[in-house]
Amino acid sequence: MQVIYESRTKSALDRAKHIISRKAPKLKKVLNKLEKLVEEGSRFSALLASTTSSGSNVNDTSNPANNVTKIVTTSSGPTQIIFGRDKERDEIIRLLHGTSSNFDPSSSNSNCYSMIAIYGIAGSGKTTLAQHVYAYEKMGNYFDLFMWIHVSQSFSVGKVFQEMLEAASGEPSHEFCNLNTLQEKLEGKLKCKRYFLVLDDIWAGKDVGVHEYKLNQLLSPLESGKKGSMVLVTTQFKDAAKSLGAHGPMRIPDLNETDLFDLFMHFALDGANLDAQELETFQMIGKQIVKKLKGHI
Ligand SMILES: Nc1ncnc2c1ncn2[C@@H]1O[C@H](COP(=O)(O)OP(=O)(O)OP(=O)(O)O)[C@@H](O)[C@H]1O
Ligand SMILES: [Mg+2]
Repeated sequence: MQVIYESRTKSALDRAKHIISRKAPKLKKVLNKLEKLVEEGSRFSALLASTTSSGSNVNDTSNPANNVTKIVTTSSGPTQIIFGRDKERDEIIRLLHGTSSNFDPSSSNSNCYSMIAIYGIAGSGKTTLAQHVYAYEKMGNYFDLFMWIHVSQSFSVGKVFQEMLEAASGEPSHEFCNLNTLQEKLEGKLKCKRYFLVLDDIWAGKDVGVHEYKLNQLLSPLESGKKGSMVLVTTQFKDAAKSLGAHGPMRIPDLNETDLFDLFMHFALDGANLDAQELETFQMIGKQIVKKLKGHI
């Protein structure tokens, strides 16, 4: 969550605290919780600032942003509630199916697949949006095969191939294979299949040449698929998306105020049992906070 609004938010919280100071202690408890959230957010925003500042070195372990333990994502998140994003999901689906007026995957290159990339700062909802698209597509029958791969900062090409192979065959693969054999097996599995591959969380590398080489190695078995296959990439680094060959990476749009309010209240109240008056008070506070967020999660 971007929390540059910390000091103003705190004073709003102080005012709200004063108004209800003689009311239910339960309200105070939830206010304190909100304050804690703002404080935690400010610590997180310091990390974000160092992660996204230009010229930052992602492999520099003295940079605290690079020491954050990244969670390995899967095709569905732990919380299934997604606020907003239907518009973005539908736009991506139009691109995936090649039905958007300004994007024709088949004409963009001679590959059997096309690539769409979503970029934006950490926590802005890229993975959540990709999960939303993935879940939607899985309900339809446009694609024959689905693969969700969390790539991460220091990925191994062999491990990613192995994961793709497992996703493509639907079976765990225990046997040890060299990279070449893995690639051949994967090509065999993708042959004549229209697949949908998500490469979640692509990073930019310190050694740009080696990193780009590894990223392009990931793409090499994908050529054996059926025309119309799609790769959806999420990344914090627009350049990483471009170096993979994504056309016009799309910056994840900010959530509109209503969706952001719903998301904020959902996580802030965390299922708290409130009466109507309490709810009204917290909604008023929530609205003030969300205004200051200006669309940033
Ligand atoms: N539209 C949304 N509805 C509900 N929850 C959301 C939404 N967008 C983001 N979140 C929540 O915010 C958190 C961060 O979102 P997400 O992991 O998608 O961000 P990200 O942009 O992929 O971050 P990173 O660059 O670190 O991978 C998640 O816990 C997710 O559940
Ligand atoms: Mg992500």
